[in-house]
Amino acid sequence: MARWRPVALTLFVIYHSIREIEAQKPVRDKVQDFALRIPRVTIDELAKNRTLRTGLHAYVLSGFAEQWNATNWTLDYLTEKIPFEWVDYYPKNMEDVGSKPYLFKFDKAVKEFQHPNELKTDKPKYMQIRLSLRGWKRLKKDFVPKPLPDVFWDDDEWISQCMRKGNKADTPAINNFFVTNQWKFLLIGEKGTTMFFHKDGTAASTWQVQLVGKKRWTLCPNTESRFLSPYIDTYNPDYSRFPAFAMAKCGQVTVSPGELLYYPAYWWHHTFQLETPSISYTGALVGVEADRSDLGADRKPHVQFYADLQEKCAKCWQRGVSERQCDDISQKWAGAAPPPLRVVCEEYLPDCLRLWSEHAKALHGEDRVEL
Ligand SMILES: *[C@@H]1O[C@H](CO)[C@@H](O)[C@H](O)[C@H]1NC(C)=O
Ligand SMILES: *[C@@H]1O[C@H](CO)[C@@H](O)[C@H](O)[C@H]1NC(C)=O
Ligand SMILES: *[C@@H]1O[C@H](CO)[C@@H](O)[C@H](O)[C@H]1NC(C)=O
Repeated sequence: MARWRPVALTLFVIYHSIREIEAQKPVRDKVQDFALRIPRVTIDELAKNRTLRTGLHAYVLSGFAEQWNATNWTLDYLTEKIPFEWVDYYPKNMEDVGSKPYLFKFDKAVKEFQHPNELKTDKPKYMQIRLSLRGWKRLKKDFVPKPLPDVFWDDDEWISQCMRKGNKADTPAINNFFVTNQWKFLLIGEKGTTMFFHKDGTAASTWQVQLVGKKRWTLCPNTESRFLSPYIDTYNPDYSRFPAFAMAKCGQVTVSPGELLYYPAYWWHHTFQLETPSISYTGALVGVEADRSDLGADRKPHVQFYADLQEKCAKCWQRGVSERQCDDISQKWAGAAPPPLRVVCEEYLPDCLRLWSEHAKALHGEDRVEL
């Protein structure tokens, strides 16, 4: 059977060489104590808490998603709703940086997950579903009521304003934005599955709702990057290889059904499913964080996010050159992410950036928040 090479691993920025970490002075007998607190708050507590509302801290929000019909999701129900979606299917867990997925349609993936046939292994199985606009529209009906506070200003509020053709939302462009940026994900795993420690390649913050089963998280701020590597198993660290990990300020938290975890852009994360199945749903946010000083060239996360996207765009489109400069792997692998559309890169994203900037300014003013 053909194997799909996940070019989509551009998602992960893996530029911290092990050598760099090993060069740091070993700190004897020091271990990672996960001292970073990841508080649990209600929506009311969040609404009143200026620190958390900066969007610069991780926290678990509880007390609203328990009512969502999505907490009753089963694999059979999902198969009925989104049989057409593509799944990155990992028959042998996803604990290593090089884990390779098979690309299956959702209905086939679920069959294989429930009754392994072609891909029997002794490892727990894991699936990632990159939702299209169509799949997301079907599933979002089960996320009602959605009393998300205004720091959760999401694409429902902006995307059809900046991606418009004439006086209508440009649906193919929005769909392209979803799938090229892995914007909405459904994650389904068996107990023991884990996605290796990494940070995402674009500066959007993340929310993830745990719907079924429990999941453990390790989270480390971007400021700790010099101590971190995607080869660290944060659940069983090898301090002889990664002594510097002990020096990073990281936290751990377990999230239960109906709870939502938020973390800021570029934070490192490492997941571990505690039950079978674990089903969670994740989305990205932009234009919600206050300024921060750990991003490099710009202090505004949404400006950095824009730069990350334009860097991807530049690999495919150059001003004045009509031909696309990058491959379209979706022609060879139906279901793999296509290149970004030119109109998204050149016309829509600049308009979206204006909306993100306005929102961030309305939320945080011109405050300079130091980390
Ligand atoms: C805001 O939340 C943080 C983290 O839980 C907490 O330490 C702090 O006391 C809270 N601030 C207020 C004003 O409630
Ligand atoms: C989930 O299903 C159970 C049992 O059928 C039912 O009692 C409960 O109300 C449902 N919850 C939601 C949020 O629909
Ligand atoms: C949740 O599911 C129940 C039972 O299927 C249905 O009656 C109800 O309308 C749903 N609620 C929402 C908000 O969709």
